[in-house]
Amino acid sequence: MSNERPAGAKLRVAVFVSGGGTNLQALLDAERTSPYEIVLVAADRDCFALKRAQKAGKPAKIARKPEGLTGDEARLAVSDALLSLCAEFGVEAIVLAGFLTIMKGRIIAKFANKVINIHPSLLPKFGGKGMWGHHVHEAVLAAGEAESGCSVHLVDSGCDTGEVLLQRRVAVKKDDTAESLAARILPEEYIAIVEGTAMLARRILS
Ligand code: GRF
Repeated sequence: MSNERPAGAKLRVAVFVSGGGTNLQALLDAERTSPYEIVLVAADRDCFALKRAQKAGKPAKIARKPEGLTGDEARLAVSDALLSLCAEFGVEAIVLAGFLTIMKGRIIAKFANKVINIHPSLLPKFGGKGMWGHHVHEAVLAAGEAESGCSVHLVDSGCDTGEVLLQRRVAVKKDDTAESLAARILPEEYIAIVEGTAMLARRILS
């Protein structure tokens, strides 16, 4: 336990979102009995996840891509805006929960080994650029996999390439569609994202 932190203090985390926020909701619901405290919810676009944050009384901010910027320039601008928000709210670690911008620049070094992501496949399989949401499940089915699941991993400068902290598995059924497979994996994601964030908190707080 670092000496400048009061005993029993929780890890101050930001959750970055881009979509419906069901993973965020799992983190919000488990917060009271977990070693983390959500001090900021930030998105790269307007999304329902921000409404979940507001309903829970959390700061809900948008770091929107600036007009006219594309590609890595846009990613860097969003990442730098998020880094400023993290400084403003005293964020110690970041959880990506359905966040769709690949972060670039200073935020990566500032939060090295302190960013985790939830990905809906058994990494390293079916990860990387373009592998998000239904694209993942369609690729798993096309490959004829017998099982799939989700992974919580540390975020490095790559896409879905950092150390895997934990995985949860589901069997692929022969009549599965991308939707039915996603629906069976989501509940496992909610368990994994809470467990993975607690693991990160214990690792940093120890
Ligand atoms: C989840 O399937 C997650 O695995 C992926 O994006 C989706 C986010 O859903 N990273 P939600 O916004 O948490 O509902």
